[in-house]
Amino acid sequence: MRRSLLIFLLFAVVVLTFLLHSVSTLLALLIEDASRDAIHRSELPAPNSTLLETRPQVIPKIIHQTYINESIPAHWVPAQQSCIDLHPDYEYKLWTDAKSHDFIAKEYPWFLSTFVGYRHNIQRADAIRYFVLAHYGGVYLDLDDGCKRRLDPLLSYNAFVRRTVPTGISNDVMGATPQHPFFLRVMESLQGANRSWILPYITIMASTGPLFLSVIWKKWMGEHAHLNPDTWVGRVRVLMPDEYNQHAWSFFETYEGSSWHGKDARLIFWMGKNWLLLTVLGFVLVLTVGFLVWFVYSRLLIWSARKRRERGSPRMSALRFAGSAKVPLWRVWAGGLGLNKQSYEMVAQHDA
Ligand SMILES: *[C@@H]1O[C@H](CO)[C@@H](O)[C@H](O)[C@H]1NC(C)=O
Ligand SMILES: *[C@@H]1O[C@H](CO)[C@@H](O)[C@H](O)[C@H]1NC(C)=O
Repeated sequence: MRRSLLIFLLFAVVVLTFLLHSVSTLLALLIEDASRDAIHRSELPAPNSTLLETRPQVIPKIIHQTYINESIPAHWVPAQQSCIDLHPDYEYKLWTDAKSHDFIAKEYPWFLSTFVGYRHNIQRADAIRYFVLAHYGGVYLDLDDGCKRRLDPLLSYNAFVRRTVPTGISNDVMGATPQHPFFLRVMESLQGANRSWILPYITIMASTGPLFLSVIWKKWMGEHAHLNPDTWVGRVRVLMPDEYNQHAWSFFETYEGSSWHGKDARLIFWMGKNWLLLTVLGFVLVLTVGFLVWFVYSRLLIWSARKRRERGSPRMSALRFAGSAKVPLWRVWAGGLGLNKQSYEMVAQHDA
């Protein structure tokens, strides 16, 4: 086999093994269907049902939402109002940027520098929702989720999140009891996940967004798989798409953004809902770039060897090449590559 190809393949195998290992949770996430923790429709009374709810409601009656300030954009006001109107007996908390900052500074000062240091506003909007849920308990709702029925039946679970299709969970609808262990874990994981992934949207997804949350959720289930789900308070139940917004009897309906100038916010909502697609695209991109690099590298090797043969191969550089199998890319670019005749013949054989 051609030597450069062999080295490249070895290198590729090592890199791929490393990548696979580091994304193993991500891969496991792809086949996680959440069926173990799904909230079954048979557990939920019909909207306006006269059936008495006998299950204790453990999540406090609080609705949390976030926005920059108190001026909610007009196209989200109906969604916001639908939730407030249906729940007059719930406390409503709107976490503006200023209130969020004060809350973190007062209650979680160890997190303040990370919180303030986030480069993107949406990262703060993501982070604050985990903190207020862990702190006060209640239900967090994105501003584009309008309510079609009361949330009461969901209050009888210790915690719930929302399943996204085809995989993973979102952070746009979540509920929990105060100090719920899963959200405490999420809170504690934020600092470690605060890394830059060059592309802002990937950074947001992976440091605070749905991808971050889904990975922790998957690990959480793996670590506690041995516990009895019926008694484990750390269990996180999952609201499935049908119960989320697919039917007249679902809990929510999603409001589209209108001509509001904040295209960014809509893009981010969209990305939150399509993070798997974006992740897959990222992988395809990395593999494509890897292949292109290999392709160019191998073409250059052949081209350079051909040149060398035309000019005659100096003995010294031939020796040097024989001793160092790894040819640095910059030497290929610099045209200073010393291929001996033998390796050139192997190249030629395989290239024919
Ligand atoms: C529940 O009752 C309200 C008020 O009577 C009504 O507006 C709503 O359409 C009902 N929902 C369903 C799903 O029947
Ligand atoms: C709230 O934020 C929006 C968007 O940044 C801005 O246009 C608006 O003036 C702000 N409203 C107040 C009351 O500060």
